[in-house]
Amino acid sequence: MTNVTPFRNVKHASMLWASPDRAEEIAALHAKLFDPAWDTAAIQTLLEHPAATSLVAVAGSQKKSVIAFVLGQLAADEAEILSIGVSPDWQRVGLATGLLEGLTRAARRGGAKRIFLEVAEDNAAGIALYRKLGFVEAGRRKRYYERPGGARADALTLVLNFDSAEA
Ligand SMILES: CC(C)(COP(=O)(O)OP(=O)(O)OC[C@H]1O[C@@H](n2cnc3c(N)ncnc32)[C@H](O)[C@@H]1OP(=O)(O)O)[C@@H](O)C(=O)NCCC(=O)NCCS
Repeated sequence: MTNVTPFRNVKHASMLWASPDRAEEIAALHAKLFDPAWDTAAIQTLLEHPAATSLVAVAGSQKKSVIAFVLGQLAADEAEILSIGVSPDWQRVGLATGLLEGLTRAARRGGAKRIFLEVAEDNAAGIALYRKLGFVEAGRRKRYYERPGGARADALTLVLNFDSAEA
């Protein structure tokens, strides 16, 4: 009876602020999507931080389980996206776009002028998502990510400047 996805339709998902008691569920989804994964304690610490600006998407008739998350923080006039992930069953229905738009709105209201993130240069899906939302390249860290077999991938730093983005 677990992991039932009766309607893989974005209309059946809701977006909520990510409270620290969601850390375990977020960590479980993070582990499905990232290697190395972040553990529950690290995610809980992040969500408890006063600068945390994080959202989850939930779905499911009973327990409303976490199907997507975005972890961000806002400090002074800059916001940063630390991680974003969508359950494989729920990808390509607009959840990441919705979460990023929600986080962007919150950051703007909180006084941010820009929002930064880092993405591996070989993450085609992530790069396509961010470019579609108006992020542009602001820098590159050479050989930042480790890949199986000892290969390395550059990290691209992308930025969305709110002055140049749609309101
Ligand atoms: C990247 C990720 C967050 C996208 O989430 P998503 O909810 O499927 O994204 P959306 O449905 O909002 O997609 C918006 C746009 O992003 C681009 N995109 C998303 N997934 C893509 C893919 N697999 N291949 C190419 N483009 C993709 C498309 O332009 C898409 O618009 P379209 O569906 O109209 O073509 C998701 O694939 C994921 O969790 N991946 C694993 C974790 C990860 O890599 N996170 C980013 C690390 S920086």
